[in-house]
Order: sequence, then structure tokens, then C-alpha cells
Amino acid sequence: MRIRCYTGWGANCQVVLLFALAYVDLSFYHEARETHEGKMKKRPAFVMLEHIAYGNFPISLQPAFCYDIAMKSLINSLPLINQGKVREIYAVDDRHLLIVTSDRISAFDVILPTPIPGKGEILTRISNFWFDKTRDITPNHLTKIPLQDVLSNPKELAWAEHRSIVVKRLQPLPVEAIVRGYLIGSGWKDYQQTGSVCGIGLPVELQLADKLPKPIFTPSTKAAMGNHDVNVDFDTMSSQIGTELAQKVRDTSLAIYQMSADYALERGIIIADTKFEFGLDEHGELYLIDEVLTPDSSRFWAADTYRPGISPPSFDKQFVRDYLETLDWDKTAPGPDLPDKIANKTADKYREAMKRLV
Ligand SMILES: Nc1ncnc2c1ncn2[C@@H]1O[C@H](COP(=O)(O)OP(=O)(O)OP(=O)(O)O)[C@@H](O)[C@H]1O
Ligand SMILES: [Mg+2]
Repeated sequence: MRIRCYTGWGANCQVVLLFALAYVDLSFYHEARETHEGKMKKRPAFVMLEHIAYGNFPISLQPAFCYDIAMKSLINSLPLINQGKVREIYAVDDRHLLIVTSDRISAFDVILPTPIPGKGEILTRISNFWFDKTRDITPNHLTKIPLQDVLSNPKELAWAEHRSIVVKRLQPLPVEAIVRGYLIGSGWKDYQQTGSVCGIGLPVELQLADKLPKPIFTPSTKAAMGNHDVNVDFDTMSSQIGTELAQKVRDTSLAIYQMSADYALERGIIIADTKFEFGLDEHGELYLIDEVLTPDSSRFWAADTYRPGISPPSFDKQFVRDYLETLDWDKTAPGPDLPDKIANKTADKYREAMKRLV
């Protein structure tokens, strides 16, 4: 078991908890971690520990050892159908999925071995907030099905709470709906070579990270696991999914971006670009799916330090990237451990993004 040192409430809680753990029984922790099952005696102290251990506790009070198990889903009762860098997707039945967000963080497309405390819960809360806020623009995949209807095992339930959503199982469109308000990343590379982004002509002499005259829709194909997505122009997307649907996806994406970017800017966050996913139900109705406007699906920048001409630091991953750049690491898996200080500062940034937006 790895123990980290945290300050404030987390540290106090950690000390109390370690004594309690020694008193009660350490074996439950190993059982839970290694076999995800096992019969445990329900002493009152134990029940409390169980809640803490599975993250069913305010983020700021979670003890450090919880973070290790927050890297890996403990759910075994449902079939796992997709494991992404950060999330696990389970089939609930033919019509529903369970999406569970871990505390994993990736950088340069590599999952790092160090979790970011509370990240799964924060991303879930941010995404749910936007699903609610965009309801007038588009329907989305959220259901009202409570988690306890889906997970009957109390250990799984306690672990998944706050980091999971039960969603409608839809047919995902084979495109990523990207909206860019600023010129950065692959958009900047495209612009330097062609003067346009995904076939959309732009004014000459724009600088890196410049704000675009108006947000642009720049779709990409959804690449198979291990491959990179490829930017395509609107006509290519139309030939793939049909012009009418492509127009609806584009107009909906731009409307959501415009609303959310204005909202975030008032709270000191620039949403430079973002990626949406859409799915269809059996009647062909379009729904917003996946995650929405989280720091993982978008580029967030701090508005007060933004300057065109330089690549603005990422609001959330700036400490991780800066730290990794100091290492002699070739940016291929396995990634290096993050020092506690970097993991904690990063967690603070995720929390700050949530506090500003939600
Ligand atoms: N409501 C839904 N119905 C059907 N599929 C969905 C729904 N919501 C999300 N998905 C799909 O679930 C998958 C989520 O995968 P996830 O983003 O966790 O990993 P990934 O895209 O494989 O990898 P990465 O970690 O690089 O994002 C996506 O393929 C997405 O299209
Ligand atoms: Mg994804």
C-alpha cells in the first residue's frame, strides 16, 4: 500500500484512518483491491471505513490510500464493453450503459501511474452540469435511473457513487464534433500549411492561440483504438453520415460551444476548443452523448494569463506537463510516477475549474 502525505483535512483524516485501520482489520482493503469480493464482518467502524475507502466521502477528506483504488474500477457485476484512458463503460442491458470515471490522468496520450485525487467525481459533476445546461439546445443520454438499480453489490455501489452515470445506450455517430474558438493544436498546424482549418478558410496572419473571428466546426473521424483521429472537412463528414444529419450536428455543436464559452469566460476560463459526441436512438433522434465540456474533452485556459502568440498553459494539466518536460522520458508508455506535490496541485486545478463553472 502506498501512503502519501497530504495537508489539511486530508492529512488529519489519514492519520485517524491509519490508526483505525490497524485496529479494525487491514485485510478488507487487500481483499477489495485484489479480489474485489470477500466476506467482511460488518463492525460499525468497518462500515465507516468502507465508505471512506470506496470514495463515498467528500473529496477533501478522502485519505491517500483511497486514491490507488480510484485508478481501477472495482465493478465486476456488469460486462465491461470499453476501457478508455480515463473511463470504463459497462453494459447495463440492451438499452442502457454505465459510464464510470476513474481518477486516472493521461498526458501525451499515455496513462500515468499516479491518480489525481477526486478527478473522477469532478469530471462527472462538470459533465452533468453541462448536460443540464444544454438541455434546451439538445436532448442528451442521461437517464434518471438511480445507480442502486444498476449495482446491487454494496461495495461496487459505494465505489461507483459520484463518479458514475447511467445513460441511454445509443448508436454513436462515427465522427467527433470538434468546435474551435481559438487557433491551437492540430488547427494551428493545418492553418500554417494551408491557411485554413479542415477546409475552412481563415484570415491571413493569424498568430498561434489567436481567437478566431467566429467559432468553427472541424469534425474528425473516430479512429480505432491505438490510432489517431483524422481531421476531415464538412463534405467528407456529410458523405459519411448524410448532409441533413451533418448540418444538425454542426449547428448543435456550434450553439453549445457559443453558449458554454460565453458562460465560462465570465468565470475566467477560456474554452479554446472542445469535442462533442452524438448518438442516434432507434427513431433516428439525435442525442448528445459521452462527456461534455470537461477539461478532458476540451482545452481550458486561464483567461487572465492568456496571450496570443504563445501556447497558453493548460488550465488543468499545466503542472503535469511542465513536470514531465523536466524528465528524460520519451513520452511512450509506461509513464512516470508524479510526485505528490504535482498530483495535489493538479487536483486543485480540477477542483478550481469545477468551482468556477458549476
Ligand atoms: N450513450 C452512449 N451510447 C453509446 N456509446 C456511448 C455513449 N456515451 C459514450 N459512448 C461511447 O463510449 C466510448 C467512451 O470511451 P472513452 O472516451 O472512455 O474511451 P476511448 O474514446 O476509447 O478512449 P479515450 O480514453 O482516448 O477517450 C466512446 O466510444 C463513446 O462513443
Ligand atoms: Mg473518448
